Amino acid sequence: MKIVIGCDHAGYNIKGIVKKHIEEKGYEVIDVGTDSTASCHYPVYASALCEKILGGEAELGILICGTGIGMSMAANKHKGIRAACCSDVFSARLTREHNDANVLCFGERVVGPGLALDLVDAFLGAEYLNNGNHVTRVAMLADIENKNA
Ligand code: RB5
Repeated sequence: MKIVIGCDHAGYNIKGIVKKHIEEKGYEVIDVGTDSTASCHYPVYASALCEKILGGEAELGILICGTGIGMSMAANKHKGIRAACCSDVFSARLTREHNDANVLCFGERVVGPGLALDLVDAFLGAEYLNNGNHVTRVAMLADIENKNA
């Protein structure tokens, strides 16, 4: 599976740790930057990442900023992206299983490296429960998106 990863300056350190971890697990990783701790603007990297998913180059994405919130807000402005900002492992798993989230966001200023890797493992290790009410509700999300486009 191909994973795309991105961050701003506030998520740069954990991005490196996460990237190494998932590469060691055998995932192919596309890194859309940023490439240093120099101050930058998170929407730029959120958009670069979402374009990789929407263009079919990657299946799932991981976005890291200071809190994860700005990244999730920016990512969710893209039609077809369902980004979840998580700081607990249960939510990271359930957002794949129930919401079919395709982007995980978290904050380097919120979670430490150990929890970050657990969040990533929970997210990447889970599968969408593609049935029943989950399908109905995810379709309803798309309806909202289409009505407000
Ligand atoms: C950068 O200082 C910070 O605002 C950004 O990384 C993020 O936390 C925004 O949501």
